[in-house]
Amino acid sequence: MAKQEFNLNVNGKAYKVKVEPDEPLLWVLRDDLKLTGSKFGCGVGICGACTVLIDGVPRRSCVIKMENVSPGQKIVTIEGLGSPKNLTAVQQAFIDHNAFGCGFCTPGMILTATALLAQNPNPTREEIVAAMDNNLCRCGSYLNIIEAIQSLKI
Ligand code: FES
Ligand code: FES
Repeated sequence: MAKQEFNLNVNGKAYKVKVEPDEPLLWVLRDDLKLTGSKFGCGVGICGACTVLIDGVPRRSCVIKMENVSPGQKIVTIEGLGSPKNLTAVQQAFIDHNAFGCGFCTPGMILTATALLAQNPNPTREEIVAAMDNNLCRCGSYLNIIEAIQSLKI
């Protein structure tokens, strides 16, 4: 398939890339923009390792083709949250609660939790579990992840 130019808004910055229209957004983020925080896990939309926020909604970037991304959409990756010296409250809570093992799922978990708390600042435990349910952690850090999110309730 012939390459085409696409305009992207990622982490508040404008980018122009030339890629094939059926290229998954995940690989454009990782290979073209060098934003490697979003991870490749399953590649078929199941595990959540590739989660990014698109207009504030957690989405699986491994199954989103570039031809379906519009230039007006605001994409946020883990690199668009806090910096190492200025972490967001969600990032700090994950550290404080040891809410990870290897860290592979963590960017997707933190972005999903960030979206949950933006939409519902005071979620019940059941709502937290439901919101995080489709993000898989092979290290089994689920209980600590739930505790980290619960600690942020208003
Ligand atoms: S890598 Fe996208 S959902 Fe698993
Ligand atoms: S921390 Fe290792 S996969 Fe979740």
